[in-house]
Amino acid sequence: MAWRLKKTVVMVGMMGAGKTAVGTALARRLGAPFMDSDAAIVEAANMTIPEIFERDGEAFFRQKETQIIARLLTAEACVLSTGGGAYLSEQNRATISKHGVAVWLDAELGLLWQRVRHRDTRPLLRTGNPYQTLKTLYEQRVPLYAKADLRVTARPDYSIEDMTDAVIAVL
Ligand code: S3P
Repeated sequence: MAWRLKKTVVMVGMMGAGKTAVGTALARRLGAPFMDSDAAIVEAANMTIPEIFERDGEAFFRQKETQIIARLLTAEACVLSTGGGAYLSEQNRATISKHGVAVWLDAELGLLWQRVRHRDTRPLLRTGNPYQTLKTLYEQRVPLYAKADLRVTARPDYSIEDMTDAVIAVL
């Protein structure tokens, strides 16, 4: 089926939910460009995300994230993957709802943990007890992710293509 995206499809949800992997596959399937707000921040700053958090702090990262999301959402319609904290900001939610459709990639905490536990790329999970931190973030964030237009729930046996099919089915 030939798709012509009218609005940007914005992937939101926790770290480890598969936003980048599913977003990339979705863009390929829809024949649309793929953008990633984290990657755009890294490129603009020429630093990794942990380096940005360490040098300039989380508030600075959030400012850049908001600017980049506004810029990407007012450009050509695409599939846009966002960082796990992006949808918590009321301003970002307003920009996303004006120019796009938000898809919450949901997954159980245990599955998210399996996927993020061996990676050292998330500054928020670098201190204290990373499982507890992930759990707290998950519990705090779920009510906000639930404001997304659409929700697709991952299962342990779902491949990236299965998740992509599930997103296409609700679009
Ligand atoms: C964050 C998630 C990360 C990245 C940053 C903050 C968060 O993106 O934006 O480390 O607040 O959940 P992913 O969700 O792609 O890991």
